[in-house]
Amino acid sequence: MTNIEVSASKDYSALIGSGLLSQLGTLVRPVVRGDNVLLLCDERVAALYAQAAEESLRSAAFQVRRLVYPAGETNKTPEMLISILEEMARQGMTRSDVLVAMGGGVTGDMGGLAAALYQRGIDCVQVPTTLLAAVDASVGGKTAVNLPAGKNQMGVFSQPRMVVCDVDCFATLPPQVYAEGWAEVVKSAFMKDGPLAGLLEAYPDVRMEDIVAECVRIKRDIVCADEFDTGERQKLNFGHTIGHAIEKCADYGCYHGMAVAAGMCIITRACVKTGVCGAETYEKLEQLLDKFGLPKTCEFTEDALYTAARADKKRSGERITLVLPKRIGACVLKKTDFSEVKTILELGLGR
Ligand SMILES: NC(=O)c1ccc[n+]([C@@H]2O[C@H](COP(=O)([O-])OP(=O)(O)OC[C@H]3O[C@@H](n4cnc5c(N)ncnc54)[C@H](O)[C@@H]3O)[C@@H](O)[C@H]2O)c1
Ligand SMILES: [Zn+2]
Repeated sequence: MTNIEVSASKDYSALIGSGLLSQLGTLVRPVVRGDNVLLLCDERVAALYAQAAEESLRSAAFQVRRLVYPAGETNKTPEMLISILEEMARQGMTRSDVLVAMGGGVTGDMGGLAAALYQRGIDCVQVPTTLLAAVDASVGGKTAVNLPAGKNQMGVFSQPRMVVCDVDCFATLPPQVYAEGWAEVVKSAFMKDGPLAGLLEAYPDVRMEDIVAECVRIKRDIVCADEFDTGERQKLNFGHTIGHAIEKCADYGCYHGMAVAAGMCIITRACVKTGVCGAETYEKLEQLLDKFGLPKTCEFTEDALYTAARADKKRSGERITLVLPKRIGACVLKKTDFSEVKTILELGLGR
């Protein structure tokens, strides 16, 4: 098991390893005060893992109740959030009790927000079961639900009490859901120099635990430097400005990670043409995306993507902060005129 200490407005451990679900109770016991656990999961994850999680929690003398909701991003709503809060109240949960959010990023984001709001905040333990949630959503304290006006528009920063990631859970992921998690892993390799790029090259002859741990370390370092997302943390948006535009053009009918992969590729191709990075950076990115079955472009036109990107919530006025790759292991933030997105799309799509 790898233990990564996160030191943000709250200090906590992110534990990563194989077989951790069966140890959940003993891992969580020392860090929470109360005896009552609400286990939140969507119906798919409940069918696969709720029993094992409950047994482990009960064997550590927790009283466990399960709250299951229908799977999918469309359920990450204020209405669902309220129904979770009402259930917590019906069950008489107190401020020393704990919510365990077990599942993908939807459960993590919504469970994290419910825990942050209930009685002004109770402990939340994140148990990510998708690769995306393990390397991205579960660490860092961003919680949210969606509004009709946009994704993640209603939320707070609230760090979990602990993160427990059992990498064995990835074995049951649908192939596309697994693949899109790899897009965020590849993204992580651009954030900082370190062992991740080598691990990805050596995959599959390396331990999944080591890959996830390295991604979590990278995210931890960025989050600790900029918990509230005013600077450094924006680097995590590499590939996301164009990725979000692709998602919007696809009417959110595509996988986020697939869109991010194409977004990283498009901006990197443009950066090679403008001399921000060398051709070898693009070639390495391409190799990694091929290896993990991720797309390198998209079907939409520059104009359609540009119009969609204009609606990106990260835009303030006519200026935008772009994340430009310098090489694997380094990217830079560039505050620029929004019109530069058009140039990037023209160069990156190259048609
Ligand atoms: N808070 C953050 O910093 C942050 C970062 C990135 C993404 N997110 C959020 O994360 C969400 C996307 O995360 P996601 O892709 O994990 O979505 P998700 O929670 O919808 O999970 C994807 C699907 O996989 C299923 N699933 C989960 N674990 C499984 C397993 N082990 N085996 C089989 N099926 C399993 C789920 O039931 C679901 O159908 C988005 O809402 C996004 O906004 C948050
Ligand atoms: Zn993402």
